[in-house]
Amino acid sequence: MNLRTNPPPIPFIDVAAQRRRLGSAIDAAVGRVLNHCQFILGPEVLAFEAELAAFCGARHVVTCASGTDALVLALRAMGIGPGDAVICPSFTFCATAEVAALVGATPVFVDADAATCNIDAKGIAGAVATAKEAGLRPKAIIPVDLFGLPADHGAVQAAAKADNLLVLDDAAQAFGATCYNRRLGTFGRATATSFFPAKPLGCYGDGGAVMTDDDAFADALRSLRVHGQGSDKYDNIRIGLASRLDTIQAAILIEKLKIFPDEIDARNRIANRYTEGLGDSVGVPRIPAGYTSVWAQYTIRVAGGRRDALAAALKAEGIPTAIYYPIPLHRQQAYKHYPVGKGGVAVSDRLATEVISLPMHAYLDAPTQDHIIDTVRRALKL
Ligand SMILES: Cc1ncc(COP(=O)(O)O)c(C=O)c1O
Repeated sequence: MNLRTNPPPIPFIDVAAQRRRLGSAIDAAVGRVLNHCQFILGPEVLAFEAELAAFCGARHVVTCASGTDALVLALRAMGIGPGDAVICPSFTFCATAEVAALVGATPVFVDADAATCNIDAKGIAGAVATAKEAGLRPKAIIPVDLFGLPADHGAVQAAAKADNLLVLDDAAQAFGATCYNRRLGTFGRATATSFFPAKPLGCYGDGGAVMTDDDAFADALRSLRVHGQGSDKYDNIRIGLASRLDTIQAAILIEKLKIFPDEIDARNRIANRYTEGLGDSVGVPRIPAGYTSVWAQYTIRVAGGRRDALAAALKAEGIPTAIYYPIPLHRQQAYKHYPVGKGGVAVSDRLATEVISLPMHAYLDAPTQDHIIDTVRRALKL
């Protein structure tokens, strides 16, 4: 009789481990909402918005139904529409460019910086020129804080100022991270984030939020998320959406926010351990001075066509991996007809062939992580 049992599968992101830690606090929070029955814009939504504003230092937080809606609401509040160009990276999740198209504007793609995978601010002026040559009005830029690391917000803001662009920070992957000792949420006119369950601060469904320091902008967002309401919801002063964060999700997020700083510390410890174990020979993420990451992903770079073999070797050992992103947006069927800025997107093309993300979450234990590190080293024969 064969008594060997397979080791339990290694999760890529362990939502269940966090659920075990939070335990009855979540059940009690959901129970309170089930008792008061204010399922839309109930008291937990306002309480969570206030706590999130205090956490990130933004004057206003306006929650909504998803990270994608957060970006749409912000673009709508900026008045962006047909004939406008919205500059964004090509090496990102599709929602970054999708929202520009959804409001009728045109995304214009900029390349990534090879060191950080974030937008290369040196490409912004070229994208503005490309947009103008195409007869578009360059209006806004959406830098993305990819994999948990803030974009180079100093350089983005300088480029935006030079060309009079509004900045909408897409912090869906990086809420909680810092740049120049400031948490994301206050760089640019607005910041959007996502509470999708796999995000560093995730809920148990879809959810999102927009942060801004601008009072009038926040008023516009609050109106837009309830069908463009004015003095009440039967007074419609603009075309809006139905996009609220459910009260149940807000109640869950209040509990999750309590442990979020501790989880960010854990993620950093785990990321440092990966870097110590792999940094001598594989391309590991480097955090620029003055920045911190929340490590939505721990993404290594494997050149020379060895990535697929590495993924296969890890899979054989029960270790899941993910490729974010295998096809940059300028090559996607839905986006390839949109313009690319003058600088081109060669780095994005290269990154798409090299990146591979390893399991990363706040509850990854040391023996499991050692197994992952050893397997990567063996597979690459380091
Ligand atoms: C960079 C980026 N922007 C926007 C979004 C959209 O967020 P949501 O899935 O909550 O709509 C995501 C989600 O993965 C993302 O990674």
